[in-house]
Formats: sequence, structure tokens, C-alpha cells
Amino acid sequence: MNPARVTLVEVGPRDGLQNEQAPVDAATKIELVHRLQAAGLREIEVTSFVSRKWVPQMADNAQVMAGVRRAGGVRYSVLTPNLKGFDAAVKDPAHRPDEIVVFGAASEAFSQRNINCSIEESIARFAPVVAAAHAQAIKVRCAISVALGCPYQGEVTPDEVERVVRLMKAIGVDHCGVADTIGVGTPRRAQAAMERALKHFPLDEVSGHFHDTYGQALANIYACLQMGVHTFDASVAGLGGCPYAKGATGNVGTEDVLFMLDGLGIETGVDLDRLVDAAAFISGVLGRKPVSRTGNAWLARRAAKAQVAAA
Ligand code: HMG
Ligand code: MG
Repeated sequence: MNPARVTLVEVGPRDGLQNEQAPVDAATKIELVHRLQAAGLREIEVTSFVSRKWVPQMADNAQVMAGVRRAGGVRYSVLTPNLKGFDAAVKDPAHRPDEIVVFGAASEAFSQRNINCSIEESIARFAPVVAAAHAQAIKVRCAISVALGCPYQGEVTPDEVERVVRLMKAIGVDHCGVADTIGVGTPRRAQAAMERALKHFPLDEVSGHFHDTYGQALANIYACLQMGVHTFDASVAGLGGCPYAKGATGNVGTEDVLFMLDGLGIETGVDLDRLVDAAAFISGVLGRKPVSRTGNAWLARRAAKAQVAAA
């Protein structure tokens, strides 16, 4: 049975923008976060504290965190791959994140390409980050990348996913995100990976992160909803990709997920009209149309209404 309520974790400012080649200024990123929270999103992944050599677009992480005008009830998260990233993220107590994300991979090949270490080494790096976060009452989410397929290894089995789930649980991670980094997953495979996460984490602490490269993300979300999963990442305007997974498109567009959830009568607290404003804003800055189908359809509908009103 579908859940009555779903939490959408907006990852556009981080997962979406990290892939943009041209620099996007901090003021634009901050404005995007403001528009997303104004639309009713209550979980926003703002930026990442990673190496600026690896991902130059996120080099303004501290500036963006300091510039966000926090809204009550919103949880702001950032990626921290190691203690250096965590220390930078909490350096300014006034602007520290409410949640951090450690990101591992279900394949050795992707782990090496994305974070330059083996799975085992990554867990050894994450363990002190988890402890340091908990010491400051900061929640820790993990992302398990390439859980449904890897651009370097190919097929990834549920056993490989569960191995990393288990390791993340052992170091005290609070929440487990199952990520289809390159969007190759299909519904049964998504369910099979999610089942493994659910063997170690409660339903309230698992989420799905589906990129839409092959147009399967909504189907995968629907399949997970039927298992009772009620937290999903999504990216405004369908922005993004992963710099270490060439050809992968962005996460499923938040507008597309919201339109489906609204249609299913599932509560999210997010207003589609205002969300489309945020999508139009960032797409305008980037000089292109949103990738999300709903974003475009909503904008076309608005334009048609305006034409009728003007006639
Ligand atoms: P490394 O080169 O192995 O690290 O990188 P190192 O410890 O050897 O340090 C090398 C240099 O990086 C040093 O600087 C460090 O100080 C610096 P230098 O002495 O050469 O001037 N450094 C850092 N600087 C800033 N922040 C840090 C940091 N750590 C070291 N935290 C590292 C290892 C993990 C840092 C690197 O590989 C990296 O930054 N990778 C980032 C990869 C990334 O951001 N990928 C995209 C996000 S993940 C994603 O999109 C997937 C997700 O959406 C889920 C899904 O879809 O699958 C979450
Ligand atoms: Mg991603």
C-alpha cells in the first residue's frame, strides 16, 4: 500500500549543480535554495564539502551555507566524504548543516573513480566522520552509489549492495540512501536493492535516489512506494548528473515526482506552482529549458493561460 505522506529531499543545488561546467555564482545557488524552501521543501541538500580540484562547482560551499536564510522546519544537508570535509562544514557553528551525507559505492570501480579509495578504505574514512557528526547531534545519511548498475563494472548484485549497507550500519550511519547513479535500474531491481537496505534500516530511514537516464526513475519510485518507502531524492528541473558517471543525467525532476504524488493523493507539503518557479529560475540562469516534463508542461500551461487572459 502506498504511504500517505512522502518526504522529498531536494538535491538540485548539490547533485544538480555539481555537474554544471560553467560556474554558477553563490548568490544564484542561495536564491535557488530560498525558492525551494518557499515551495515547501523541508529537506534540501545544499552543497558538498569535497575537493575543489575534483568538483570546482562546489568550491563556494561555505559561502553558500552562510548565505542561506534558514527557514523553520527545514533540514539542510551537505556531502562530507572525509573528516577534512566535515571539519570545514561545521567550522562556522552558525551555519553548520543539520545533516551530513557520506557517499560510498556498491562497486569497487566506482568507489575508486568517485572518491579515490576502495570500499573498505571509504568506510574507514567515514567512521570518524559519523562519530564526529553524532558528537554534535548531526544526523548522518549515506548514499550507496551505483546500487543498480555501475558505468565501470556493469551489473551490480543485491549482495554487493547489502555488503555496503551492512558496513554503513556498522559505523552508525542513521539513514541509508539507495542510489541509481546512472539511471539503469528498473522497478524489480530497485525493489531488490531496497529490500537489502530494509534488512538493516527501518522504513523511516531508507530512501531512493534515482537518476532518470533511461526514463525509469518514476517507475522505480512507484515500485518503492509500494514497499512503503516514503523518502525520495529529486532534483528541481531535473538538473544534474555525476561528474564521475559520464552520460548519466540528473535525478528525476522534483516536479515530475510531485505531479505523480499529487495524482496519487500522497501528501508532500510542496506546492507545484512555486516549485515550477524555482525550476524556471535556475533553468533561466543556465540558459535552457527544464529537463523535467512537468516543469515544461506547467510553464506551457501558464503561457497559454496568460495568452488567453491578454486576448
Ligand atoms: P584524494 O585526492 O584521494 O584526497 O581525494 P587526499 O586526502 O589525498 O587529498 C588530496 C587533496 O585534496 C589535498 O589537497 C587535500 O587537502 C584535499 P592538496 O594538499 O593537494 O592541496 N582534500 C579536500 N579538500 C576539500 N574538501 C575535502 C578534501 N579532502 C581532501 N573534503 C576526495 C579524496 C574524497 C576528497 C576526492 O576524491 C573528492 O573530493 N571526491 C569528490 C567526488 C564528488 O564530489 N563526487 C560527486 C558527489 S557523489 C554523487 O554525486 C553521488 C550521489 O549523488 C549518489 C548517486 O547518485 O550515486 C551522492
Ligand atoms: Mg546522484
